[in-house]
Amino acid sequence: MDGHDLVRSVRTIGAAGAVRGVRTVRAAWRRRRADASGLPPRGAERARVPGAVRDVEPAPGGGTVRFNRAELRIVVTVSGAVFWGWDGAGPEPSYALAGRCPDPDPRAVLEPDKDGGWRVVAERVTVVVSRYGAIEVLTPGGVLLRRDLPPRWWEPVGGGPARWMQRSEVPADARFFGLGGRAAGPRLRDGTYRLWNTDPGRVFGPGDDPLYITMPVQWVVAEAGTHLVCHDSSWDGTVTVREGEEGAGSGHDRAGSCEVRMDGGPLRCWVVVGSPARVLLVWSALTGAPALPPAWALGHHHARWGFGGEQEVRRIVAGYQERGLPLDAVHLDIDHYDDHQVFTVDEDRFPKLPQLAEELLREGIRLVSIVDPAVKAAPGNAVYDSGVAEDAFVRDASGRLVRGVVWPGEAVYPDFTHARVREWWGGLYAERLGQGFSGFWHDMNEPTSFNAFGETTLPRSARHSLEGRGGDHREAHNVYGLCMARAGYEGLRRLVPEERPFVFSRSGWIGMQRYGGTWSGDVGTGWPGLRASLSLVLGLGLCGVPYSGPDVGGFDGCPSPELFLRWFQLGAYLPLFRTHASMRAGRREPWEFGAEVLEHARVALLERRRLLPYFVTLAHLARRTGAPYVRPLWWGAPEDRALRDCEDAFLLGDCLLVAPVLEPGVERRAVRLPRGRWYDTVTERVYEGPGRVVVDAPLSRVPVLARAGAVVPVRGADGGVELEVWAPAPGRTGGGLVVPDAGDGWDEPEVERYVARWEGRRVEVRREGDDEVGEPGRPVRIRGLGGPGGQT
Ligand code: NOJ
Repeated sequence: MDGHDLVRSVRTIGAAGAVRGVRTVRAAWRRRRADASGLPPRGAERARVPGAVRDVEPAPGGGTVRFNRAELRIVVTVSGAVFWGWDGAGPEPSYALAGRCPDPDPRAVLEPDKDGGWRVVAERVTVVVSRYGAIEVLTPGGVLLRRDLPPRWWEPVGGGPARWMQRSEVPADARFFGLGGRAAGPRLRDGTYRLWNTDPGRVFGPGDDPLYITMPVQWVVAEAGTHLVCHDSSWDGTVTVREGEEGAGSGHDRAGSCEVRMDGGPLRCWVVVGSPARVLLVWSALTGAPALPPAWALGHHHARWGFGGEQEVRRIVAGYQERGLPLDAVHLDIDHYDDHQVFTVDEDRFPKLPQLAEELLREGIRLVSIVDPAVKAAPGNAVYDSGVAEDAFVRDASGRLVRGVVWPGEAVYPDFTHARVREWWGGLYAERLGQGFSGFWHDMNEPTSFNAFGETTLPRSARHSLEGRGGDHREAHNVYGLCMARAGYEGLRRLVPEERPFVFSRSGWIGMQRYGGTWSGDVGTGWPGLRASLSLVLGLGLCGVPYSGPDVGGFDGCPSPELFLRWFQLGAYLPLFRTHASMRAGRREPWEFGAEVLEHARVALLERRRLLPYFVTLAHLARRTGAPYVRPLWWGAPEDRALRDCEDAFLLGDCLLVAPVLEPGVERRAVRLPRGRWYDTVTERVYEGPGRVVVDAPLSRVPVLARAGAVVPVRGADGGVELEVWAPAPGRTGGGLVVPDAGDGWDEPEVERYVARWEGRRVEVRREGDDEVGEPGRPVRIRGLGGPGGQT
């Protein structure tokens, strides 16, 4: 915003807006000045490559390879993950890891390879280091999965953090996925993706990058095998990917390539090789098991920025109830704060919030509160005063508090990279609990500061504790949301030890699943936004964050009834199922779009409720195995090229395939099926995979197919769990897992295992015990036997 813009904005937005505009400009200038004095200029730089190998030093799990100008440490851990770090970089300290680095695998040894190189041979992977520092990752059978060329550093002559670049080659048929929440995915086509968590400052669509959650975590899926690579550095960077080309048997394949560039931080890397399920099992063991949401968080949530007050909340809840529409949570946005200040309530509009919360709870509806990190910089504001007393806020290099501009005006930012600050902040949730809130929605935590110069965050020179190591915002920025999630989660665990916290966060980084999930941020209302919302959920799931979902209907504007319905139908099969929109947008209650949409939305809501036991099971399995609820179609068959390129459908757990409608005017759509028999869950029509089939997708529903043999736990008419079993293909068996809901506490329910098999002309379902097979113990309904209703 320049002077002219400011004059224009005084005319168009009035005095209050203009004051905010002036503050914004001031903040932006301060930011520039702060960086100019707080960050030394980089000056001249010197490039470096490792040079030739000099000697090696074996150690458990691998060892150290010394080159003329660099040193490489390699460890294969007992879990089969491979770590390597250059120039003394070890796996710790790391914000990505959930705990200590796992022990080395003593069976993996460093041994000489050909041409003066070295290799580490482990059970599931071989790592070969060439004499000039190229690193190859191979399957045990010797097939190449990835080749990293020797890295390159640029070091400021006068000292300071080195920039680095790592170029890699991958098989010609490989596809890239991951990198956090990307709107243009799930398949990451040729391009450069930035690693810098960003509030785009407006609604986003498929072309917008980066967004709120970026992660240096890539999946490379090729016929030769699947692997995950993580460059564990939180600094700003880019990943440029280029898919290869296959020469159709001519022998002229062009390898795919990937180039990671970072402005600083250690050059260190994790690689996990194996089937997708194994990769996420190992990855979640390293970076942390996903927090288990309470069962109510797997229901339907309704949010809005701009509920006028308590009466409007009651009116909307009544609207759901009168129409027989299930509702599990209502989210209050910043407009319920007093003067936009976090941890306060506008008592004019919400005079009896605890009473409202109690009333809703009696109806089985929880209240969820937005929590923004920025604190209004005003003495007399209790949160500000206690934060100042605690020395909790981020300072600049000269020791002054860093001020940004967010909803409350000038604001300061807690330094969540400090354990003491996290503890202080976590304690503030007591006020929210006192108001009756059951869940917490972290927002604006990239962290965002509105400004006029493109960078919507803190100055890079802002100082952070970084767990006592000390550093600046260049390193702390990407982990800010992660550390805020930790502060909230751990605070809630202290305040209500008997309950599992429910926290989800707009920004985050590797490991954020330890504290909760996320949503997709301000997705633009339109068909491209609908497609982007699925891309984010799939990409985040592959990076280890299984619980997420979009603002159903999009954040801005007014979706057409058809778009709203299709979004709603998609949302009903995603882990977080939430309608939400900006205060300037049209309404998102399902009855606002006409009688037909209401009827179909009711079907989606009731189906979601019926599938709740399946969602609970998937949540438990995600926690125990890292497997996301929502998986790409290639999950079980990554070698299937057609599945790898299929971006408009997904697997929901092992049992269901969901094919949402992502375009207008569609009432039939093509679906790419993985191997095996599949049933349309409404018509029970049988389809055989692998292959492409065309299925009905009337406005009343999106196609959902069940895998033959699947055992799906569903909610019966009496509220208990029943087993919906899809007949195995002839001559085949089936089965499935059920993890019952054990309440909002920490009890560990037992996993129930079922098998389904043909006995003559009947399908029998048995529960597997440790050493015996018994009666299922739950009502069973067999489906897919030909006639409607099937065998009961
Ligand atoms: C930005 C968030 O992304 C959005 O969900 C929220 O409604 C607004 N902030 C206001 O709090």
